[in-house]
Amino acid sequence: MADWKSKMESLGIMGKIIRLSKSVIGNAEKKAVMGVLDREYLGMGKEVQDFENELHDFLGRPVVCVNTGTSALHLALQSLGIGSGDEVLVQSLTYVASFQAISATGATPVPCEVIPDTVTLDVKDARKRLTERTKAVMPVHYGGGMGDLDEIYEFAHHNGLRVVEDACHAFGGNYNGQKVGSFGDIACFSFDGIKNITCGEGGAVVTDDVDVLRKVRDARLLGVEKDTEKRYKGERSWEFDVKSQGFRYHMSNIMAAIGIEQMKKLPEFSSRRKMLAQRYRRNLASCNSIELLKQDFDEIVPHIFVIKLRNVDREKIREQLQALGIQTGVHYMPNHLLSFYRDGSFPVTEALFPKLLTLPLHPDLGEEDIDHVCDELIKCLEE
Ligand SMILES: Cc1ncc(COP(=O)(O)O)c(C=O)c1O
Repeated sequence: MADWKSKMESLGIMGKIIRLSKSVIGNAEKKAVMGVLDREYLGMGKEVQDFENELHDFLGRPVVCVNTGTSALHLALQSLGIGSGDEVLVQSLTYVASFQAISATGATPVPCEVIPDTVTLDVKDARKRLTERTKAVMPVHYGGGMGDLDEIYEFAHHNGLRVVEDACHAFGGNYNGQKVGSFGDIACFSFDGIKNITCGEGGAVVTDDVDVLRKVRDARLLGVEKDTEKRYKGERSWEFDVKSQGFRYHMSNIMAAIGIEQMKKLPEFSSRRKMLAQRYRRNLASCNSIELLKQDFDEIVPHIFVIKLRNVDREKIREQLQALGIQTGVHYMPNHLLSFYRDGSFPVTEALFPKLLTLPLHPDLGEEDIDHVCDELIKCLEE
C-alpha cells in the first residue's frame, strides 16, 4: 500500500512529492541502452572503451571504469599494495562505502575528525593519528566540496602517504579552477543512480600512475592479465595468467551507454545543481536556526545540499517535512559509531552529526520547488 502510494505520488498523480534525489534520464539514454540491447553485446566492450575515452578527454588523464564508486576506491587502494597491517586515514563522517573500500583490502580505516564548516578531513586531527603503518589518506569531497585539498596533499607528501581522493560526490567540479580528477594522485568517482552523472551504477579510477592503471584494469576482470584489450575488440582471453587477487568489478556496455549520454548533459546538470544550491543559500541565509556550509558553487558541482541546524530537533523537522511531501536525508552516520568499525570518541563529529540535514537537490527540481522547501522549512523552524 505504502509503495503504491509513494509511486503514485512520485508520478504526480496524488500531490507532489519533492524527492531528495533522483536519476534524471531521458530518451537519449533509453535509445542508447536499446542500441546495446539490439547489438546483443551487453558485457564490457566498445561502449566502455568509448566512455573511458570520453572521460579521459574531459579530465586530461587516463580513466579506468568499474561497476561502482566503492569498487573504484577498493581497487585504487589495492593497486597501491595497501592491505593487512596497513592503515588509511579517512574522515569518520562519510558514507560507509569509504570505510568498506579500505577494510576490503584488509587495511584498517583510521577515523579522523572533520572541519565542521566544510565537513572535510581535518588534517590537524589526521596528523595526530599517523603511525608507521599509515600508508594513505582518503579525503572525502563531501557534497562536492573539497575543503583545503592543498593542505591534505602537503600533509601526504610530507609524510610519504598516497592520496586516494573519494571524489564520488564531486564529478564535474573544480578545485582552484582545475577539474577534480585532472590533478593529484588518484581520484575515484561514482556514477550511481543519483550522482552528478549516472550510469545506473558505476565508478572510475583516474590517475597518471601507469602501474595503478594497469593493476586496476586487470583487477576489475578477476585479475586476468590484459583481458581489457581483448574485450575492447569484442574478444576475450582463453589462455591467460593471473598473478594477483581480482574481482568481478568491470563496467558493462549498458552502463557505459547511459554514461556517454549523461556526459553530454553534464554542463546542463552542473549549472542547474549550482543554480538551485545558490538559491537555497539566498533563501536560507537570514534564518537564525540554520548555518550554511562553506562551499563555493562557482567551483564545485553540489551533489547534495546539506545545512546545519542550530538547537533544533532534527528528527522532528524531518517528520514535519516528510508529512508535507518533502523528503530529506542525513549524510552521514559517523563510521566510528558502527559496530563493525567502532572506535574511540570523536567530539567534533559527534556534535556535528545531529545537526546535519540534507535538503532535496537534483536537476529536475525547479526554483519554485526550492522556494517551497525553504518556506516550509523556515515555518517548521519558527514553530
Ligand atoms: C562519499 C561516498 N563514497 C563512496 C561512495 C560509493 O559509491 P557507489 O555507490 O558508486 O559505490 C558513495 C556513494 O554514495 C559516497 O557517497
